[in-house]
Amino acid sequence: MNPEIPNPEQANVRVLLSHEARGDRMIFLFADDPLPPAIGPDEFAAETGDMVITHGEKDRTLYVGMGDRSKAKPHTWRRATASAARHLEKKCSTRIQIHVPDDCVTVDPIVEGALLGLYRYDRFLDEKRKNKPKVANLDLVVSASRLATAKEEARQAALASKATNWMREIGNTPPNIMTPAALAAQAKALASRSGIQCRILEPADLEKEGMGGILAVGSGSVNTPRLIVLEWMKGEPGEPVTAVVGKAITFDSGGYCIKPPASMPEMKFDKMGGCAVLGIMAAAADLGLRRNLVGVIASAENLIDGEAYRPGDVLTTCDGKTVEVIDTDAEGRLVLADAIAHARQKYRPDLILEMSTLTGACMVALGTDRAGIFTDHEPSREKLIRIGESTGERLWHLPIGDEYEEAMRSDIAFIKNLGSRQGGASSAASFLRKWAEDIPFVHLDIAGPASIEKDVPHACKGASGFGVRLITRFLFEKP
Ligand code: BES
Ligand code: ZN
Ligand code: ZN
Repeated sequence: MNPEIPNPEQANVRVLLSHEARGDRMIFLFADDPLPPAIGPDEFAAETGDMVITHGEKDRTLYVGMGDRSKAKPHTWRRATASAARHLEKKCSTRIQIHVPDDCVTVDPIVEGALLGLYRYDRFLDEKRKNKPKVANLDLVVSASRLATAKEEARQAALASKATNWMREIGNTPPNIMTPAALAAQAKALASRSGIQCRILEPADLEKEGMGGILAVGSGSVNTPRLIVLEWMKGEPGEPVTAVVGKAITFDSGGYCIKPPASMPEMKFDKMGGCAVLGIMAAAADLGLRRNLVGVIASAENLIDGEAYRPGDVLTTCDGKTVEVIDTDAEGRLVLADAIAHARQKYRPDLILEMSTLTGACMVALGTDRAGIFTDHEPSREKLIRIGESTGERLWHLPIGDEYEEAMRSDIAFIKNLGSRQGGASSAASFLRKWAEDIPFVHLDIAGPASIEKDVPHACKGASGFGVRLITRFLFEKP
């Protein structure tokens, strides 16, 4: 039984003029704005993160601090809106009117901030906690001169947020339910409602293709592995294909190189790279991307039993490369090797863009806010970093290179699946690049930002949705 995960409910967004708007007001104030008479002079400094609520006769107004006007970036608007929308929802607002100042040049950060901020995962909560009122309507108030453009910006942002929240819902679904087969069922459901083509490689197909990496990692679980392939071929005839590849380990116990118990519950989020690919495909279809795009998701569960793979095994991936397994907890690169090789051999893409919760080392280096970007392909790198600053999915460039290969040299196979502990994120990236061969390759290590450890003012704990808006925008901007 693989029930489809429904799209989480999302507030209805309208863009309109002031007199048409309804509900509790959200007003943004910069530090140099005059304070409204309802607020005492020492009550509110309008710093970022500051909020104060005033009660009128019929309605309420939430003032949201924006700090220094010259420093406001799209991400500042997004976070402020998210925190404010969450705050109002906690105070039981069901309808909010957001007054968008002209300082906020496009309305997409406002829409995304509200819709992503208001998402929460409540599927398994008891009725009492689940039925807390939700914000159902968001009215964006803009000046008349920008009404038409703002409407289109809002429409696109709402669709991108919908795809993101859908993939968050899948990501938050526990590993006993969201197995590789269940994930494949979500992909099929997406395909049937969107015009995307979907092909699922089941274990017998994986055998036929010689995908020894994904088969080995999945061999210790009754929840057998799947390779999920999604095609959206809407480019001009003859135009190259771009491939997005994702790691979807539905649960990573570490296998025989077992993880300590404390770090295990989080390992349901080891599927977030693959979930991001699902979200990107959904967004591409909903927004009508006119390109050739293929999504490849390598899904398996890394468990332990009598059939599980072990340190010392030698595997052969679908393109004939052999890997000596040193550590069964370095499983991501094994499933991805098959996925990347499949994308390269089947589609000869002009770019392989791969996303994975690949290494703890990347989190040690960058913390939980940024993902690592590993690539020699400068045009993609610069573009992704720039877009990430604006969507709030921030990246930092880390090295990839032959120098990491020495430590992965095997005496009995093409390569070992473990390099030096030092530079662990870079050796993982350099391992993966081998399977892309001559195709331009970008690896994003999203181990840090893919999930949020505890509630913060602008977001709920759990799957963050990292990567969906970043890559979707990248694809739309791509020449
Ligand atoms: N899924 C983990 C990486 C991870 C760690 C993601 C923490 C999110 C939070 C990955 O499969 C793994 O276990 N990596 C090992 C690699 C090592 C054995 C080379 C790690 O990071 O320790
Ligand atoms: Zn692992
Ligand atoms: Zn893993």
